Amino acid sequence: MKKILVTGGAGFIGSNFIQYILNEKENILLVNLDLLTYAGNLENLKAVEDDPRHHFVKGDIRDRDLVNRLFEEYDFDTIVHFAAESHVDRSITAPEVFLTTNVMGTQALLDAAKAHWKLEPDNKYSWEYRRGVRYLQVSTDEVYGALGKTGMFIEETPLSPNSPYSASKASADLLVRAYDQTYGLPVNITRCSNNYGPYQFPEKLIPLMIHNAQQDKPLPVYGDGMQIRDWLHVKDHCSAIYAVLSKGIPGEIYNIGGNNEKANLEIVRLILKELNKPESLIAYVKDRPGHDRRYAIDNTKITSQLGWKPTYTFEKGIHETIEWYLHNIEWVNRITSGAYQSYYNQMYGSSLEANTD
Ligand code: NAD
Ligand code: TYD
Repeated sequence: MKKILVTGGAGFIGSNFIQYILNEKENILLVNLDLLTYAGNLENLKAVEDDPRHHFVKGDIRDRDLVNRLFEEYDFDTIVHFAAESHVDRSITAPEVFLTTNVMGTQALLDAAKAHWKLEPDNKYSWEYRRGVRYLQVSTDEVYGALGKTGMFIEETPLSPNSPYSASKASADLLVRAYDQTYGLPVNITRCSNNYGPYQFPEKLIPLMIHNAQQDKPLPVYGDGMQIRDWLHVKDHCSAIYAVLSKGIPGEIYNIGGNNEKANLEIVRLILKELNKPESLIAYVKDRPGHDRRYAIDNTKITSQLGWKPTYTFEKGIHETIEWYLHNIEWVNRITSGAYQSYYNQMYGSSLEANTD
């Protein structure tokens, strides 16, 4: 049986990945290490809470003793590392936790993997690891920085992050690379474009806009709304990660994307149309500092070398996602109260007031 340490499995993509593996694959035990920060929510895993193939552990990836104890208890052969601080806007106002979690947390996991998988742990020159082990770093296309009107990110595009979030993810990627180059640790890095789908925390564009539109609240569009993101349904991201785990070559980076470039304003208008709400709800607010203009992923490597391809069209995916949010209003209501509400007010309070009269 494969034993995978999944970090951040109570968040958006991690919880979708856990459900994907338990529903689609056999003979895999998943140990889900998650600190349950504001973004982690065990409700995301309700459908699998009685499944004996999923063990939840509340804890911090930066807690080296805990990570080592888990390695001793479960003898993992794989790590899929999702846990992170993931929201660009939060990284602009409070960058430090992005460094401790995203960079130091990654290093703690790499050290644990190296210590437990190396066949001669005390021999610093040995590159021999247990057969079949793999560390997979879930990264983002944001490490490449911003594109102009043309071009796409390939795996060799130089890293040029522009936000504290993307800088912390790029730093983590470089550490993963260094553990491959220096210690021969069998690693992969995946760099995916923007995800959407069920269980996404409503601070991110698509769920935020659905939630606000439903409540007839203003939809805060940054700047001119013409920034472009390359959207991928979260389930397609999960199947791509599994393809890398099963067929990826150690040391390789794989970009993941579905060729779905859309301007933010186009998405906002589409959501309003699907919900039958007026465009007068759109509120142009001050632009995000350092806002990347365009992302676009060239997915040739993963599609041609690993045979992965996305299954969702954007039209199908966005329709299903809107339906999901409409049917899971209680889920949204529970997380949009309390602490989240004060974050929201701090983030948008005055700018929305200024733009909606
Ligand atoms: P998320 O914010 O929804 O979830 C992050 C999870 O990590 C939460 O459950 C949180 O509790 C947990 N966590 C945070 N700090 C932790 C710590 N110190 N120890 C243990 N757990 C901790 O994020 P997401 O959108 O699911 O993103 C998952 C990963 O995918 C991230 O690494 C992100 O950079 C990457 N990614 C996200 C996107 C996207 O569009 N969301 C795209 C590409 C890559
Ligand atoms: P987001 O979902 O935060 O993802 P990322 O910044 O990682 O790409 O934002 C997606 C795009 O939507 C980005 O260009 C910023 C924009 N945006 C808004 O215009 N208004 C908002 O309220 C939010 C959250 C994002």
